[in-house]
Amino acid sequence: MMSVKKIGVAGAGTMGSGIAQTAASAGLDTVIRDVDQKFLDRSRQAIEHSLRKLLDKQDPQNAPTRFQAAMARIYFSTSWKDLADVDFVIEAVNENFDVKREVFSQLEQITRPDVILASNTSSISITRLAASSGRRDRFIGMHFMNPVPLMKLVEIVRGLQTSEETLNTTGTLAERLGKTPVEVNDFPGFVSNRLLIPMLNEAMFALFEGVGSAESIDAIMELGMNHPMGPLRLADLIGLDVCLDILNVLYEGFRDPKYRPCPLLVKMVAAGYLGKKSGRGFYQYDASFAKSPRS
Ligand SMILES: NC(=O)c1ccc[n+]([C@@H]2O[C@H](COP(=O)([O-])OP(=O)(O)OC[C@H]3O[C@@H](n4cnc5c(N)ncnc54)[C@H](O)[C@@H]3O)[C@@H](O)[C@H]2O)c1
Repeated sequence: MMSVKKIGVAGAGTMGSGIAQTAASAGLDTVIRDVDQKFLDRSRQAIEHSLRKLLDKQDPQNAPTRFQAAMARIYFSTSWKDLADVDFVIEAVNENFDVKREVFSQLEQITRPDVILASNTSSISITRLAASSGRRDRFIGMHFMNPVPLMKLVEIVRGLQTSEETLNTTGTLAERLGKTPVEVNDFPGFVSNRLLIPMLNEAMFALFEGVGSAESIDAIMELGMNHPMGPLRLADLIGLDVCLDILNVLYEGFRDPKYRPCPLLVKMVAAGYLGKKSGRGFYQYDASFAKSPRS
């Protein structure tokens, strides 16, 4: 099995930054690539902020040394060429098949042929992405949870043609990153989103049909089922547009009406009420929580 010492991360957004931070903290050399320097600057800031907070809590005595060591392991780049000598790649660019396809075609050209290509996609078929690549057996899903440095799970998604060796190397890497890999097969939504998102959708139907207020629905799941956060608040946090996109993937992927998106969700997304990031979803948020629009 190949030993992984240096990893490449494609995309320096929320997830790519979290993955790079986690990899560097675990002692791996990391190259993170995005299309523009401004995204890399933002990524560096986000990583520094998160790493400082985490180390101050975990290990205050050695925090400054560990911070320096981890940051020194991350190389921020706008060029694919800097990924030429990595041993493993994790892709975390936008959730769009064509964008990912283009990224994988670059990665196939630049990396060694034995390098495994992993995608952090939440909803695109790993089998389909693999089939359009030249590395069907060295292709896999590595579905991290947000925020990556804090969440233990990595859902390892096995495409139809993923090899046993790829599966083993990826599982070992996930453990090296301090995560618990859990293996699933490639079907729409994998396991995480197939169970979570329909539950959020059902909460929206309960609100839509007047079964209860948003506050009651959330209180019932928090106090009665011990969920740390109610489903409507969680949907706001995930982003209502993201919830709708994933529901559509399930609905179209299975052609089963049980995944029909709640009409209230569809209407809210159409209005631009996207949850916390837009300042309004099922709840109102302080304007300072609203994510500034990407330029
Ligand atoms: N945000 C989450 O909670 C979450 C959770 C699990 C999985 N995911 C998945 O992770 C992936 C990334 O999500 P995100 O929330 O980090 O998105 P994001 O929008 O924060 O980041 C995506 C980044 O990719 C960059 N990018 C676009 N094209 C590129 C290219 N050709 N080369 C390099 N970089 C490029 C963008 O500039 C952007 O910085 C998606 O597939 C998403 O479905 C997201």
